[in-house]
Amino acid sequence: MTEATPLAPQSILVLGAGELGLPVLRNLARVAKRAPGSQISVLLRESTINTQTPEKKAEIDELRGLGIQMVAADLVNDSIEQLAEVFARFDTVIGCAGMVAGRETPMKLATAALRSGVKRYFPWQFGVDFEVIGRGSPQDLFDSQLDVREALRAQDKTEWVIISTGMFTSFLFEPVFEVVDFDNDIVNALGSLENSVTLTTPDDIGALTAEIVFFEPRFRNEIVYLSGDTVSYGQVANILEHALGRPFKTNVWSVPFLMDELRKDPTHHIKKYRAVFAQGRGVAWPKSGTFNEQQSIPVTTAEQWARANLGGK
Ligand SMILES: NC(=O)c1ccc[n+]([C@@H]2O[C@H](COP(=O)([O-])OP(=O)(O)OC[C@H]3O[C@@H](n4cnc5c(N)ncnc54)[C@H](OP(=O)(O)O)[C@@H]3O)[C@@H](O)[C@H]2O)c1
Repeated sequence: MTEATPLAPQSILVLGAGELGLPVLRNLARVAKRAPGSQISVLLRESTINTQTPEKKAEIDELRGLGIQMVAADLVNDSIEQLAEVFARFDTVIGCAGMVAGRETPMKLATAALRSGVKRYFPWQFGVDFEVIGRGSPQDLFDSQLDVREALRAQDKTEWVIISTGMFTSFLFEPVFEVVDFDNDIVNALGSLENSVTLTTPDDIGALTAEIVFFEPRFRNEIVYLSGDTVSYGQVANILEHALGRPFKTNVWSVPFLMDELRKDPTHHIKKYRAVFAQGRGVAWPKSGTFNEQQSIPVTTAEQWARANLGGK
């Protein structure tokens, strides 16, 4: 058997090591073995790197054990110039720190990335298709993601890649989202039973992101779509029935109803998400055509996730 040709080495900085950052880092460390000479680093606050909290410390130790280097900086308190100086030491920066300091953070980090002269930037946009949704949607945070896209498209020095993942699979079943009411066995469809949502787990996003980062020919200046599953709310009820072995009723929360709920409580984050998902634009795409389908990389379906995680609900 012939050895696979080694991939081009990269020096990569991941911002944050939370729900998304950890699986991205674990998978980058794994795939980087196919690109000898690569170095993976993670940016965290000094206090996190030196934490004595057992659970956090175990994660930091795990990352060190994978050969990942710690870079101390503060995405909120450090200036754009300070962050640009840090980013400049790397080929690739991948944003995995979420909305750490509210709606200004995505633009602050993008500005630092562009100023740093880094070769390629992956902004924290592991979510829905903000351009299809458009400006002025019920979720005003999405406008700041559109600002970032405009800034990235308006220059040609730093390559960018956006990875569209849909919703984290677990979030669809979160009690706080109220789409699935486990107390009464009801699925509250957002907009209509036919409306769909694309779902991907953070572990799958981590595995696929690592493949995308090292993929040759190199991805540049494009949006790469992933989908662990794309399901209608009607299908969600069937999935729950199969996974949990009991009937689920369906109910529809219409767009006017959800917009009205939001008007009564305009700063309610979850209500903003419910309304924008109910509008049914840019929140779902077919699995065919996604990077995982094109590359035949297996991913977790909604039913597999439900069977593995919803026992006892
Ligand atoms: N498509 C989706 O559905 C979607 C997409 C993305 C995120 N989300 C949701 O949003 C939440 C956020 O997920 P996430 O993984 O992006 O974020 P997260 O789990 O909150 O992790 C954030 C990371 O950033 C670090 N951080 C926070 N403030 C920092 C600062 N000032 N300087 C440097 N590092 C800092 C945190 O470190 P510390 O340990 O020091 O706090 C942590 O490692 C999740 O609960 C997820 O469900 C959903």
